[in-house]
Amino acid sequence: MLQIPPPQQNLQKLSSGIPGLDHILSGGFPELSINIVAGPPGSGKTICVQQIIYTNATPNRKALYLTTLSEPSIKMLHYLQRFTFFDAEKVGRDVIYLDIGEVIRNKGLENAIAVIIKHVQEYKPGIVGIDSFKAIHDMARDPVEARKFGFDLSVRLTTWAITAFFVGEYSQQEIEREPIFAIADGILCLHNKQEGLSYQRYVDIIKLRGEDYFNGWHPFTIDPTGLTVYPRIKTPESFPDYQAVSESVSTGLATWTP
Ligand SMILES: Nc1ncnc2c1ncn2[C@@H]1O[C@H](COP(=O)(O)OP(=O)(O)OP(=O)(O)O)[C@@H](O)[C@H]1O
Ligand SMILES: [Mg+2]
Repeated sequence: MLQIPPPQQNLQKLSSGIPGLDHILSGGFPELSINIVAGPPGSGKTICVQQIIYTNATPNRKALYLTTLSEPSIKMLHYLQRFTFFDAEKVGRDVIYLDIGEVIRNKGLENAIAVIIKHVQEYKPGIVGIDSFKAIHDMARDPVEARKFGFDLSVRLTTWAITAFFVGEYSQQEIEREPIFAIADGILCLHNKQEGLSYQRYVDIIKLRGEDYFNGWHPFTIDPTGLTVYPRIKTPESFPDYQAVSESVSTGLATWTP
């Protein structure tokens, strides 16, 4: 018979390390959750997940970052060095980078799962990032194979007690259509919206299972410290009661009399 776990008052949280983001996430990412960071190219997805990883990776909670076709790890490491959250001492010890693009290209998705299992068993990470997860989907022979891959991987990540971050250049239509978004516990969308002559970055949480997050579009910036989120101003749910007083106040200006 199905055992119902006792209700947990407080889910264990993983701090994002991104100023302002934990506030809109109601404290951080729930541990052991599967999260998708979606957005167009250049919206800040890789920097976002790298900042989360460098904040949380320790020798006791390693992070495994699997890169696919879109961004080989050597190129990523090159530009990450400019950020203050980057810690060269963690590379290879607490943060392990692996390129699985070649396996996927040459041996297909079934073998990619086997390779991921092998690496997880070897490094026993607490956090796994896949960048780009969408590139894996795009290489599937058909939608059924892509769906099976997403489902198999998600089930395994949950049983391994891992908090996962899947990065992908998904469009709004794909977010509504792709089954992986139904499986995911958390979905973050990064936007770069044209406003007049310039662009403004926004983060929008679409889903966070089991949490009452702060919805809406929250502005964020990217600078050498990484991402900084500025939670939007919340409209009060109810306006304070007040009595209108009808009283005239003098302007203090002299009145011209002819
Ligand atoms: N030091 C910096 N200061 C300001 N902005 C920066 C800095 N470094 C990078 N950026 C911005 O970050 C963006 C790249 O972020 P990132 O690589 O995380 O995007 P991405 O969403 O992963 O893109 P892709 O889908 O192409 O991989 C660049 O477009 C650039 O504008
Ligand atoms: Mg990227």
